[in-house]
Formats: sequence, structure tokens, C-alpha cells
Amino acid sequence: MIKVSLLKDLALKHGTPLFIVDHDEVRGNYAEFKRNLPRVQLYYAVKANPDPAIIRTLYAIGASFDVASIAEFKLVHDNIRHLPADARQNFIWDKIIYSNPIKDRRTLEELDRYKPLVAFDNQEEIEKIRRHAPHAGLALRIRVPNTGSMVELSSKFGASPAEAVDLIAMAFDAGLTVEGLGFHVGSQCTNFENYVQALAISSSIMEESEARGYPLKLLDIGGGFPVRYDTHVRPFRELARILRAELDRLFPKSMEILSEPGRFMVGTTATLVAEIIGKSERDGKRCYFINDGIYHTFSGILFDHCQYKVKAFKKGSKTISAVFGPTCDALDVISQAEELPNLKLGDLVYSENIGAYSHASSTFFNGFPPAQVIHIHQ
Ligand SMILES: Cc1ncc(COP(=O)(O)O)c(C=O)c1O
Repeated sequence: MIKVSLLKDLALKHGTPLFIVDHDEVRGNYAEFKRNLPRVQLYYAVKANPDPAIIRTLYAIGASFDVASIAEFKLVHDNIRHLPADARQNFIWDKIIYSNPIKDRRTLEELDRYKPLVAFDNQEEIEKIRRHAPHAGLALRIRVPNTGSMVELSSKFGASPAEAVDLIAMAFDAGLTVEGLGFHVGSQCTNFENYVQALAISSSIMEESEARGYPLKLLDIGGGFPVRYDTHVRPFRELARILRAELDRLFPKSMEILSEPGRFMVGTTATLVAEIIGKSERDGKRCYFINDGIYHTFSGILFDHCQYKVKAFKKGSKTISAVFGPTCDALDVISQAEELPNLKLGDLVYSENIGAYSHASSTFFNGFPPAQVIHIHQ
């Protein structure tokens, strides 16, 4: 966590709104994941925060990458441009997965020359890949329980377990190679049972696939690893203990295990500092207007179903206050009930643990640009 005094100094120096990314925290999260799950290859899900500086830091410490658009692929590829052609190709094959099950045909045409590993979850996609990216390797995304996860993904993605092996067979029949299976338990998954069930489902699909003559080499356990936004979220090491035991029980040592953590890698790495630009009282409640909001860094409230605490640097007795963003739109509400002291125009506030799915979905709506980003401990 960045020291509060440093946050204030940086905001006074650079202005607000300021999105401060701590690269020591990025490296710390990577190390925590690897320490607890040494068997699992970590592909950072770039969509959580595609800042090139974060990708560079993770590249430098040996991370792999999960990309879900051609633009994200290129952000990662920028780091390997200088490598000789064969080393570059090895990196793409060993350390990049294109995890979006649906790919535009133009994307596939562009991807084909890189021969990447790509996800799929339906028959149409097999035909599209056969035509437009025949050199890609495949990973079948299956549907698994997302119960209780903050962001549910299973309503949109994943083949039903019952059709999984038929899809694998169809892909092989089309002359493609299915390397393995993948799933996603939903983002910010605090119900660890989702992982347990997903691993059991994967194991039985793999057994059936092998029995039908299609042995698989890899299992991608996706993302979903939760950030401790509050103390109700059980620590990562508890989830990791369950995962280690289940992976060792259900899968042979030779099975490659991949993962795609996004939020876990960057959620805790950034803090936003904003300024009070307006103040009013409505129906007896104090209201603050700040220079960042729901169309900007706080977009995660809407898209990610995440709520962030707004804290003041100033001390003093607190009252329940509303906090609004700067745009001329009534949707721009950060919180209706934040405990804040009596603040003046120009005072600063901050929100911690706002590194994932926040700045990434910031817009220019109403003429307000996204917050300025600065990097510390790079
Ligand atoms: C395919 C895929 N992989 C990984 C992630 C990252 O998930 P998380 O941030 O929950 O770790 C997502 C998030 O939407 C995803 O769709």
C-alpha cells in the first residue's frame, strides 16, 4: 500500500485526478501468486489494466500474458519485437494465450502468422479458425459454476461440459489441434467451491477425451482470484492450498497448468487521488463533487460491480455524505453513503485498491479526460 503522505505529495506535484501505480506491488503480487502456486504458469490478463508500463514490469520478471484482442496482443508483442524470430515465436507459443472465445475473422487472419494458442467454445468458431488461423493451437473453454462471483462470465462463455468432447473431436476432424481445456469461475470469486467443481468437471472431460482418442496436454484455470477489498475475503493462500491439493489429486504431473489472473495482479497496485470541486447539501445530506467519477476511474462501479471507499486525508468527525463525479449526468454517482469529515473545495480524497478494471474502462465522456497516470518504484 502506498504511504498516505506520498499520495498527497504526488498529487500536489502532478495535479489531480491522479492514478498512481506502484510497481513494487505488481512484483509483490506476482511473487505471492508464484510462491503459493508454483505449479501454475501465470498469464497476466491484460484487460484488467493494459498500461504498457505494467506489461513491461511483468515481462521483465518472467510473466506470461492472456490477451483478448489484437490490440492487447500487440501491447505484449512490443516487448518481444527485438528478439530473434525463433525466440519470438517460442515466446508467443509458450507465454501468450488469446483467451477470447469469439474472434473476428480479421483478427484470426492477423493472428495466424504468430501461431498462437487461442480459446474457442463453439462449432462456428472451429470453422472460422480452420479457415482463417489454421496454424493456431486451441484450448476449449468450458462452462463452470460462477456462483457468488462478483462478475459472472458463464452466461456468455463456455461450452457445456456435455458437448465438450464432441467439440474437441470436431476440431481435430477439421485438422486443428486442441491442446487443452480452460474455464473461468467468474471474477472476484470468493466462493472457492467454484474452483473445486470446475477442476472436477475438467478432470472428467479430460478422461473422456483421452478415452475417445484425444488426450489433452494443458488445463487453464482462468482468473477470478479475489482481491481482499475487505477482510471478509479469505486470503489467497487459503484458495491456493485448495487448488494445490485438487490439482495434484486430479491431474498428472505432466499436465501443464495455466492461469489468467487479472484483478489479483493489479487490483491492489493503484490508488486514485481526486479533488473536491463542488459541495452542496441535498435533503440534509452533505454532497461532495470530485474531479473523477463513474465515466472515468470509478467506471468499475458500473462495469465491474466493484465499490471503492473514498477516504479523506483530513481528520475530523465524520458524517455520511454522497460523493458524485464531475460530469453533468445524474448517473455519475460514486457513493450515496461515504463517511467523510467536513471537507473544503480543493481538499483531496483518495481511493485505494483501484488498479483493476478502472482506468482500463475510463472514457472521455462529457469532455473530461481519464485521470493522469504516474508510476512509482518502476
Ligand atoms: C478469459 C478471461 N481470462 C481472465 C480474466 C481475468 O479475470 P480476473 O480479473 O477475474 O482474474 C478474464 C476477465 O474477464 C477473462 O474473461
